[in-house]
Amino acid sequence: MRHILNTKQFSKEDVANILERTYKMEEQCKAGKVEKLLQDKIVACIFFEPSTRTRLSFETAALKLGANIISAENAAANSSSYKGETIEDTSKMLNCYADLIVIRHPKMGEVEDASKVSDKPVINAGDGANQHPTQALLDLYTIKKEHKRLNDISIAFVGDVLNSRPLRSLVPLLLLYPGSTFYFVSPKELVLPEDYKKYLVDSKVNFVETDSLEEVLPKIDVLYMTRVQKERFTNLEDYEKVKDSFLLKLEHVSKLKKEAIIMHPLPRVNEIDSVIDRDPRAAYFRQAQNGLYMRMALLCYCLNL
Ligand code: NCD
Repeated sequence: MRHILNTKQFSKEDVANILERTYKMEEQCKAGKVEKLLQDKIVACIFFEPSTRTRLSFETAALKLGANIISAENAAANSSSYKGETIEDTSKMLNCYADLIVIRHPKMGEVEDASKVSDKPVINAGDGANQHPTQALLDLYTIKKEHKRLNDISIAFVGDVLNSRPLRSLVPLLLLYPGSTFYFVSPKELVLPEDYKKYLVDSKVNFVETDSLEEVLPKIDVLYMTRVQKERFTNLEDYEKVKDSFLLKLEHVSKLKKEAIIMHPLPRVNEIDSVIDRDPRAAYFRQAQNGLYMRMALLCYCLNL
């Protein structure tokens, strides 16, 4: 059995294996012939933070594979965490009931703490502003599917570069392939945290920080928009100042390469004008759809099936 906690845990071979499994899941779904590999298994989805795509795609993935699910969708209020139970004790309890445990938590490191006392695989569905490995894997799958390659990808992350956990998880995956260039586009209040910048410098990553979206648009293969993470701000006045920093409009899209794609982990709040949805380069709903196939593959991967 394997936990999924942080994308830095994966080798290039692991990722190739996961992408291949995901492709098979997509084929099976499209053919309407999904092998019930998780028959008689129980998957627990315990979410201490709101979620639409991550939780519902994990639950759909489990159901499609023949598993049953138990779930706490508002665990901060509706589980014994509200009464003060530690994540370790909650994890030990889930071990009594489920074969695999998916956890989202607002506190960095909390899902890893849950995994340390678990004999069942634990999947990190997002821990604070730290990691969101399953999102990054579905993002990587999307880039591969759309561009037919993972080498030599120029990608711009736009918006809340400081707090985006999909960003922090996707960068190490792209670094497994040669030739990537990263642009981090944000207002000065939301620039990369120092520790992450140090990691990029130490890893000799080719990256640029800027506040100009216009400047990067013609250079990139992937435009990755992010939501300003309101829930990570301690002072709402600070949030108000930066919340509408970058709204992607048609005039921006016209500056992109013809073959570039626009991604967003969603939910979008005020980052992408909905008229852009009709542009074939708008890949964000295809990206979300890929999340189902990826999570089917990951449930099997964690259980060694
Ligand atoms: C992301 C997250 O939770 O970090 N959402 C998701 O899982 N698709 C991004 C976000 O909430 O902005």
